[in-house]
Amino acid sequence: MISIRHSAADYPRFFTRIPYSQPLHANCVSIYYKYLASVDAAVAPDERLSDRQAATREILSSIYVLQKPLAPIKSGISDYNARMENPVQFVQWLRSVAPYIHAFRGKTFVVAFPGALVMAGALPVLAQDLSLLHALGIKIVVVHGSRPQVAEQLALRNVEGRFHNGIRITDTAALECSKEAAGELRLDIEAAFSQGLPNTPMAHAAVRIISGNFVTAKPIGIVDGVDFQLTGIARKVAYDVMHRILDAGSPVLLSPLGFSPTGEAFNLTMEDVAVAAATALRADKLIFISETPMMLDRDNDELRELSSTQADIELKANYLPADSAFYLEHAVKASRGGVPRVHIVPYQMDGSALLELFTHDGVGTMISHENLESLREATIEDVGGIIKLIEPLEADGTLVKRGRELIEREINYFSVIEHDGVIFGCAALYPFPIEKMAEMACLTVNPDVQSQGDGERILKHMEKRARRAGFHSMFVLTTRTAHWFLKRGFVSATVDDLPKDRQKMYNWQRKSLVLIKQL
Ligand SMILES: CC(C)(COP(=O)(O)OP(=O)(O)OC[C@H]1O[C@@H](n2cnc3c(N)ncnc32)[C@H](O)[C@@H]1OP(=O)(O)O)[C@@H](O)C(=O)NCCC(=O)NCCS
Repeated sequence: MISIRHSAADYPRFFTRIPYSQPLHANCVSIYYKYLASVDAAVAPDERLSDRQAATREILSSIYVLQKPLAPIKSGISDYNARMENPVQFVQWLRSVAPYIHAFRGKTFVVAFPGALVMAGALPVLAQDLSLLHALGIKIVVVHGSRPQVAEQLALRNVEGRFHNGIRITDTAALECSKEAAGELRLDIEAAFSQGLPNTPMAHAAVRIISGNFVTAKPIGIVDGVDFQLTGIARKVAYDVMHRILDAGSPVLLSPLGFSPTGEAFNLTMEDVAVAAATALRADKLIFISETPMMLDRDNDELRELSSTQADIELKANYLPADSAFYLEHAVKASRGGVPRVHIVPYQMDGSALLELFTHDGVGTMISHENLESLREATIEDVGGIIKLIEPLEADGTLVKRGRELIEREINYFSVIEHDGVIFGCAALYPFPIEKMAEMACLTVNPDVQSQGDGERILKHMEKRARRAGFHSMFVLTTRTAHWFLKRGFVSATVDDLPKDRQKMYNWQRKSLVLIKQL
């Protein structure tokens, strides 16, 4: 038996095709070598080095095996990996995603990604993830970008690309390049959706993706004295035909090109096509899988959830990087156009679209339609409203009794949801700085408006507040609401896990359950 020493350099294609798998997790490297060893065992010695391409193909077909132990970008991901390590945890995990599967079946998602994702070699895996969504009964519309591919084509012709306000000025040469790039990308995407090797997530998939002249465009025209020539904007989307295709069980593919009634082609931005399609189709979600990392606000806090008004405020503050701002502007437009949820997730993270959709906290930024209620920190004027809200729950023992005086003293710990001067929800955040922990207490939503997501909005707000204050975890003590918290990422803990000062105040008669969430 000839022994072969493999190194990463033996399979450069593997590493360049999946650059986002770097840095590879130590486990991943070891699985990679083990896999190569099994390829060695399966291939006759004289074929081993002569037919390296075949081996590489095999390895590429097992991308998923290799990608699983990727270095986690966020701490939450390592928890998922850890949970998957035994069958019981696997079953628990699978059951935990069941509510999402039920909720998403029959819904329409527009998934848009830039040409850079294809350049980065992430297309095969994205196609696998989208095929999985398709298999779960979600109607998928795929929109691709092509900017780096167009730039490549222009460079081949020695033509320099021109931009104004981040949008390409398309002359005849640029349009030709756009058409070529779109044609090639369309074929690459069709090829990616045709994967079906055994032992891969695409085995038995048989997804038939359909593209066509679904977008009518008009020229942008002359803006700020700049003639955009053959750059256009989407004017109409053939949503009725697209719905028929989706209902018949095929995903739809849209390129960043549109056509005018005069028979001309126009170069569009991927973001514009995605927004126009999502709005016209009345899609349930628009998901941008972007080259931008998680958006951060001016205090370097993650921008995880925004209403369109909040997003507008962040945009006006003018601190976001240009790419992120461009996505956010389009997200706001889609949101105002009636798309209930717009997500911006980074493609650098393996499986980001799946994580965003099937985990409670997600991994990107979500922009939701306007909420007329305001969620804000409480002031002394809110004390009366808070008392009115929590009194019935204090009376039936759900909440611990607090007097007016105590609430007045601790009002700065409270946040409230207010609508037209009425307090509909509240919670308080008590700091334990030594242990870097915070207690959320007194979470309440008016019974008349429960089950509309306000409880969850307050929770997310309190988590953000705690993160901002530098706390690493948040805990609650509850007698009747444990399941609500467990569903939202809290785990059972004991009194010993509480900060020392809080342990001293623990009421052993009440026997509240302790639940903790890492932030
Ligand atoms: C817990 C509470 C704040 C949730 O507020 P909300 O605005 O209804 O929350 P959301 O809309 O985000 O979530 C509603 C979901 O939680 C479920 N839920 C509500 N109370 C629950 C409980 N005690 N246990 C488990 N699930 C519960 C609802 O059935 C609903 O489920 P659905 O979406 O499948 O219909 C609210 O029920 C409340 O004020 N309860 C009384 C006070 C309390 O127990 N506070 C906790 C103190 S530790």
